[in-house]
Amino acid sequence: QINDKEFEEMISHDQIQKRIRLIGIQMNVDYENKVPVFIGVLNGCFIFMADLMKEITVSSEVNFIRVSSYAGDSTTGVVKEVIGLQKSLKNRDVVLVEDIVDTGITMEHLLKEVYKHEPASVKICTLLLKPDALQKQFDELTYIAFEIPNDFVVGYGLDYDELGRNLRDIYRAIKAPTET
Ligand code: PRP
Ligand code: MN
Ligand code: MG
Repeated sequence: QINDKEFEEMISHDQIQKRIRLIGIQMNVDYENKVPVFIGVLNGCFIFMADLMKEITVSSEVNFIRVSSYAGDSTTGVVKEVIGLQKSLKNRDVVLVEDIVDTGITMEHLLKEVYKHEPASVKICTLLLKPDALQKQFDELTYIAFEIPNDFVVGYGLDYDELGRNLRDIYRAIKAPTET
C-alpha cells in the first residue's frame, strides 16, 4: 500500500538481476573496442543504472541527466529538464538508460537533446517497456529487460508520487473495480 493505491509483486529482484546480467553480456559484445557513454535518466534510473554498470566490462563513462514529467500516476505531457547534459557527446557512442519507457514522451525529448551533440551512435536501454502505452517508435530501442502490460508500476527506482523507489522488487497497482 502506497498512499491510496494497493500493489502486488510483479517482477522479483532475482528476475531483474538475471535480465541485467544478460543485457550486460550483450553490451560488452556490442561495445567491444568502443568507449560508450552511459547516460542515466534520473531519478528513476538510479538503481537499474548501478546494477547494470556492475555488469559492464568494456571501458565506459557514466553520466546523468535529470528530467521529470509525471505527477502522481499520470504524465503531464511536459518534460521538465532539471539537470541537463554536462558534457559534449560529439562522436560518442551514447547509451540512454531509463527505468521505463511508457508513453515515450520523455524519450523523444531526450533523443532530441542527445542528437544535437552529433553523437556517433545512440541506443536506448530500458528496464521496462509498455508496448501498449507507447505513442512513438524508436529505432534506438535496443536493450529491453522486460515488456509489461499497461499497469502502473513502482519499486526498484520507480516511484508513485516519489514513494516506493527503495523497494527491491517491482510491484504493479491492483486496479480498483471502478477502473477500466
Ligand atoms: C518516469 C520514468 C521515465 C518516464 C517515462 O519519470 O522514469 O523517465 O517517466 O514516461 P513517458 O515514457 O510516459 O514519458 P518521471 O517523469 O516520473 O520522473 P522520475 O524518473 O524522477 O520519477
Ligand atoms: Mn524518469
Ligand atoms: Mg516518476
